[in-house]
Amino acid sequence: MENAIIAQNIKRYFKAGEGTTVHALDGVSMEIKKGTLAILKGRSGSGKTTLLNILSALDMPTEGSVQFLDKNLEQMTEKDREMLRRYEMGFVFQSIALIPTMTAYENVEFALRLAKNKRQIQKNLTDMDNDIGDAKNDVINENTHDRVSELLERVGLSKRMDHMPDQLSGGEQQRVAIARAVVHRPKVVFADEPTGALDTASGFEVMRLFRELIDDEDITIVMTTHDPNLMELGDEVFELSDGIVI
Ligand SMILES: Nc1ncnc2c1ncn2[C@@H]1O[C@H](COP(=O)(O)OP(=O)(O)OP(=O)(O)O)[C@@H](O)[C@H]1O
Ligand SMILES: [Mg+2]
Repeated sequence: MENAIIAQNIKRYFKAGEGTTVHALDGVSMEIKKGTLAILKGRSGSGKTTLLNILSALDMPTEGSVQFLDKNLEQMTEKDREMLRRYEMGFVFQSIALIPTMTAYENVEFALRLAKNKRQIQKNLTDMDNDIGDAKNDVINENTHDRVSELLERVGLSKRMDHMPDQLSGGEQQRVAIARAVVHRPKVVFADEPTGALDTASGFEVMRLFRELIDDEDITIVMTTHDPNLMELGDEVFELSDGIVI
């Protein structure tokens, strides 16, 4: 099986004032295969979020390299990394952050419209000579209503489409956020503690959804969790301790 992500000897040091340096990551190497659910675990402060941010090109390592779908992140321009994030990645967080004045449907639709518009603008730019997101041209052509409805149905919220976020339970809100994260057909979804604010049943529901999305939408998911019950649902579990994967 091909790899979605290869991380080699990732180090991330933070200056913490007065000459002290925090070695948040101290040589992490890992491979995440395409079409799998990878789980990062480890105690608080072990570097899970730091690693997730580096794998998703939000942050750059002090040392080491990340290959994301055959592209070396550190060799790309800032702009290309931004495009990679926009088209090939999706994000889910512990704090769900739906737009409170939009219904469930509108929240998902808005994300898709944004991706489409930006893609259209980029297509029209003559100086666009890189291939990132080229596969995403079909996103422009896809019927917005069909795609949004399809996803809300997939996450079990067809009947709640017109509800505002504050009329939805925490678990339902997170399912809207998941629909929003995958609506533009990313290749990899990053989720930092996606079940952290949910009860056990809703947490399992999120995991079931992730599995369905891997199977049906051909994506790879990288998530962090503290919950030992959820860890066994991953295809691969990476434990961080003292800045390395043990
Ligand atoms: N911007 C920063 N500046 C300084 N230190 C940082 C910074 N970001 C993270 N750290 C430190 O790096 C270490 C790893 O932090 P990180 O947030 O990755 O942990 P985590 O495993 O996600 O923890 P949690 O489970 O609590 O979310 C911690 O010691 C943290 O204090
Ligand atoms: Mg964290």
